[in-house]
Amino acid sequence: MSYMFFFHCKTMALFLSLCFVFILSLYTGSASAATPPHLDGLLPNGNFEEGPKPTNLKKTVIVGKYSLPKWEINGMVEYVSGGTQPGGFFFPVPHGVHAIRLGNEASISQNIIVNPGSIYSLTFGATRTCAQDEVLRVTASGQSGDLPIQTLYSSDGGDTYAWAFNATSKVVKVTFHNPGIQEDPTCGPLLDAIAIKEMVPLKLTRGNLVKNGGFEYGPHVFKNFSTGVLLLPKQKDHISPLPGWIIESLKPVKYIDTKHFLLPSGLAAIELVGGRESAIAQILRTVPNKFYNLTFTIGDAKNGCHGSMMVEAFAAKETLKAPFESLGKGGFKTSSLKFQAISARTRITFYSAYYHTKLHDYGHICGPVLDNVRVLPVS
Ligand SMILES: *[C@@H]1O[C@H](CO)[C@@H](O)[C@H](O)[C@H]1NC(C)=O
Ligand SMILES: *[C@@H]1O[C@H](CO)[C@@H](O)[C@H](O)[C@H]1NC(C)=O
Ligand SMILES: *[C@@H]1O[C@H](CO)[C@@H](O)[C@H](O)[C@H]1NC(C)=O
Repeated sequence: MSYMFFFHCKTMALFLSLCFVFILSLYTGSASAATPPHLDGLLPNGNFEEGPKPTNLKKTVIVGKYSLPKWEINGMVEYVSGGTQPGGFFFPVPHGVHAIRLGNEASISQNIIVNPGSIYSLTFGATRTCAQDEVLRVTASGQSGDLPIQTLYSSDGGDTYAWAFNATSKVVKVTFHNPGIQEDPTCGPLLDAIAIKEMVPLKLTRGNLVKNGGFEYGPHVFKNFSTGVLLLPKQKDHISPLPGWIIESLKPVKYIDTKHFLLPSGLAAIELVGGRESAIAQILRTVPNKFYNLTFTIGDAKNGCHGSMMVEAFAAKETLKAPFESLGKGGFKTSSLKFQAISARTRITFYSAYYHTKLHDYGHICGPVLDNVRVLPVS
């Protein structure tokens, strides 16, 4: 109840602080209300299907800071419908019908009640609208990331990204901002849907030194439509939306789920879509001089991604090139690499040696699937 009440309060900006006091007193008054619900879904009006009143729209431009239900807007924010636009643009809006477009220096934000100390990941459908370099700046709880969105990874809808932050207060303001100043003011990122997920602390699986080796813990994946969630390379002080793992280098890796892709096992896996420009790594605690066996599964997600694939794996001084011939029809194999630890920390790294696109769709960038990463001591 208080959750609903908060968003209602928010629309009355002047009384925001009063609302805070009231909410906090609700919290202290009732122990059960003190813990916010475990978040794993769309933000309120996160798919923008609840639109501004027609009187608050000037063509597509939203007039008034609080005219977009559940959101606060700043600058030129447009309320758009998917499909072909006047002027010949095409706006992919796979999650529902409506989306918003952020003009130069424009932003949208929302306050969210969270568990301080928890890590949250935001999953959002975002796409550029012009061929220019477009950047989307996400800010939450004093942390921010500039996400390059100029490369399109899927041709059958806007791309989806995930970005994570550490909640440091009970209420955090989540902001999506277009920091760019494009010559053409009708350029600027399109946002289609925004979801949030509270990340649970990782558990080590007995015997396996790798945390989250099956990629079971990851960002929210949209239920109705998913082309996978792009996990961008680590930026300064950035918290990984894929617990346990570090995305390195220049290009993202894709988080894919069992509902929309064929996976070797479990709920999720990684698709190495960035070739040699994207690596996924983890640092393990090891005993120097001890021998370990790294095993992992590679294959294709039955998504038309075809060709001679090669996953390169690195651990301590050892390297393995694991080949896989993909017809894009699904199939997996397990590879293993024995290595000797040279220190108390051993980095394991994976990347795809080659670049791939889908069989009948060269605009769709894809790659080999990686799953079930395990490291066990060799007795
Ligand atoms: C999150 O922030 C808290 C408090 O500032 C800090 O103790 C904790 O280490 C942070 N967690 C991560 C993963 O950075
Ligand atoms: C999924 O689709 C159903 C039916 O079209 C719709 O009612 C629901 O709101 C959608 N869910 C999300 C998360 O978009
Ligand atoms: C490593 O594990 C794989 C899969 O379980 C196994 O086939 C292989 O023999 C193991 N290698 C060593 C050196 O133990």
